[in-house]
Amino acid sequence: MKVLVIGGGAREHALCRSLSLDPDVSALYCAPGNAGIAEVAELRPVDALDGAAVTALATELGADLVVVGPEAPLVAGVGDAVRAAGIPVFGPSGEAARLEGSKAFAKDVMAAAGVPTARSYVCTTAEEVDAALDAFGAPYVVKDDGLAAGKGVVVTEDREAAREHAAACERVVIEEYLDGPEVSLFAITDGVTVLPLQPAQDFKRALDGDQGPNTGGMGAYSPLPWADPKLVDEVLETVLQPTVDELRHRGTPFSGLLYAGLALTSRGTRVIEFNARFGDPETQVVLARLRTPLAGVLLAAANGTLDTLPPLTWSDEAAVTVVIASHNYPGTPRTGDPIEGLAEVAAEDGPEAYVLHAGTRQEGDAVVSAGGRVLSVTATGSDLAQARERAYKAVARIRLDGSQHRTDIAAKAAGGR
Ligand code: AMP
Ligand code: GLY
Repeated sequence: MKVLVIGGGAREHALCRSLSLDPDVSALYCAPGNAGIAEVAELRPVDALDGAAVTALATELGADLVVVGPEAPLVAGVGDAVRAAGIPVFGPSGEAARLEGSKAFAKDVMAAAGVPTARSYVCTTAEEVDAALDAFGAPYVVKDDGLAAGKGVVVTEDREAAREHAAACERVVIEEYLDGPEVSLFAITDGVTVLPLQPAQDFKRALDGDQGPNTGGMGAYSPLPWADPKLVDEVLETVLQPTVDELRHRGTPFSGLLYAGLALTSRGTRVIEFNARFGDPETQVVLARLRTPLAGVLLAAANGTLDTLPPLTWSDEAAVTVVIASHNYPGTPRTGDPIEGLAEVAAEDGPEAYVLHAGTRQEGDAVVSAGGRVLSVTATGSDLAQARERAYKAVARIRLDGSQHRTDIAAKAAGGR
């Protein structure tokens, strides 16, 4: 099978790494990719948002499957363009990707499907914003309606900050505050059959102790030793299957990866958000534990034959990933700094620990930073404590001027809390 992956972050590196280990994959391409992905896939330049360009590339390569990694091309309808050319695509249509592309649309689908989520108002004027903030009280939760790379949400005790964020957005969703731990649960679906993966936890805030601004995600781990073993079945029944059924009944079936961001509140499980693609950095730890070869599963989702697959198999090991980010991330990051220590990790720490590249670029002999999140240092171990130790040992070998990372990824869970 010839596979083309669209995107160029650590999620796509994790996808390409798994696909490169799959004996059914005879050729692997990634567009545009990054310096790390180049080690496991052949890179091709492409404008990932241009459906015609992606289709032309897939046709030229004779791709049997196109896997669209990020949300922006999906929302822009790149999957539709490729599918229209008769090439199987892992990733939803532009219509179905609105589940991620519009928070207001996602709320509407959840209401129709009876999926538990925070009560909310959609607001476009300052008066509506004030009324909604009054209705729920502090802490205030204000979400940009559109795509914002995980940075469109402000959670604050400060009413003025909440009002300012709302004023800076065209349309916002204001909702009740959800307490309790967060869980990311992914499911692969062909629009009918829903196959949940193993749950993971992401660390959204920039700084240790869940302080600082929201980011795209600063680290993740899986499994969740503290979670109820029935969680996956419960979420399949109350969230994932009803959502997939609702979109199919609307005539816009969702196939690809349905990401449920959940809060386990004192009053039960609630959906915080849906995404229409693999999560980043959770994919790095979920795929580290998946034993079933990936390509066949993604192709079955694209072709509508997931019901014919045997159950997925998983490693008993734990996985931890730690994101190394540029100076000033999640603000405008500084880029172009050389990254050192990559060869040492490969020589000393592999295969249990390895570096997945996010924002990197090859410049002559050097690998340099090219984005906010730069690397996702991933490790497996017999338990979270060992995976964590291995990941941080590898992190310590990386040198990137001005870089930052959290030191507490998976610390509580590894300590049995
Ligand atoms: P989202 O982009 O919707 O996932 O929101 C980003 C982050 O903001 C989430 O991971 C939560 O940490 C936080 N958040 C979003 N919605 C709520 C809510 N209703 N209550 C509390 N925290 C929230
Ligand atoms: N890690 C959060 C996301 O992928 O949206």
